[in-house]
Amino acid sequence: MRQVKSLNNRISIHQYMNDIGDRLDREFSNLFPTSWKVPETLRESMSYSLKAGGKRMRPLLVVAACEAGGGNRDAALPVAAAVEMVHTYSLIHDDLPAMDNDDYRRGKLTNHKVFGEASAILAGDALLTHAFYSVIQASRQHGVSAERVLTIVEDLAEYAGPRGMVGGQVADMEGEQGLTTLEQLEYIHLHKTSDLIMFSLMAGGHIANCSESQIESLRTFGHHIGLAFQIQDDILDLVGDESKLGKPVQSDLKQEKVTYPYFIGLDASKREVERLTAEAKRVISEGNFTDPTRLLEIADFLMARDH
Ligand code: IPE
Ligand code: IPE
Ligand code: MG
Ligand code: MG
Ligand code: MG
Repeated sequence: MRQVKSLNNRISIHQYMNDIGDRLDREFSNLFPTSWKVPETLRESMSYSLKAGGKRMRPLLVVAACEAGGGNRDAALPVAAAVEMVHTYSLIHDDLPAMDNDDYRRGKLTNHKVFGEASAILAGDALLTHAFYSVIQASRQHGVSAERVLTIVEDLAEYAGPRGMVGGQVADMEGEQGLTTLEQLEYIHLHKTSDLIMFSLMAGGHIANCSESQIESLRTFGHHIGLAFQIQDDILDLVGDESKLGKPVQSDLKQEKVTYPYFIGLDASKREVERLTAEAKRVISEGNFTDPTRLLEIADFLMARDH
């Protein structure tokens, strides 16, 4: 056991990320209990987007936070899968004609382009609902305490719902160039993107039975890297490479979205990503974790990402 762990500690961050991605793919291959009768088209449309090749950042953060606190990877996987389901549902809906109206995602046609709008909406609904089923399996199958799982379920509802991601998406939709303030833009980014990232980190901490102060450090770390992540997303929308991103560039311009580069310019936006990343790393380094190395490496990886 010890040997596996020390081996694990020496693998590169890329290998670490690939390993977790592989474990997640296996979770998604057995999405439902075998006794469930689920319409074939629904299975297909859910799997299509889940397996389209996302970066799996949020599941990675669940596992890395859990392991930073000395917790068990197997127990983290149902929650890692759950947050990827919520994130994937949010992207399916985000791409719909009524929202950002994008045709490509993760290098493939968007869900509604393949299955039609009604099916895409329902695939999103099903992913959101099934996420809660998946979270509960951390307790049913891996013995995470019911009290911790209760907190994770409560947090997921809070951070993904009206005061979280959905609230952020509504604010994003209502934001208008020339009328939105920088403060309102920060609200949009914090909620549409940081909230799910904060949730992922805190949930990983709960699975590892972290203390309240460790959970608070994970929350602050997530707040900062989450904001940096969305600013980087805005930057890549402007200057990124479509073939690497797997989604159209200049989508924000087309939709006249309020973004960080729109407000403070490209260079200042890049500096803000660096500042937030440095601050996030400081907080987690001082957070009393068994081993925060992976979280620090992930923060650096995200700052440098080109997709
Ligand atoms: C895209 O998220 C939407 C945002 C919240 C910025 P990701 O960049 O994590 O997308 P995938 O999962 O890798 O496709
Ligand atoms: C999407 O933000 C955030 C959520 C789906 C919650 P964007 O609209 O900027 O994401 P992309 O650029 O389409 O991936
Ligand atoms: Mg959007
Ligand atoms: Mg979009
Ligand atoms: Mg974007």
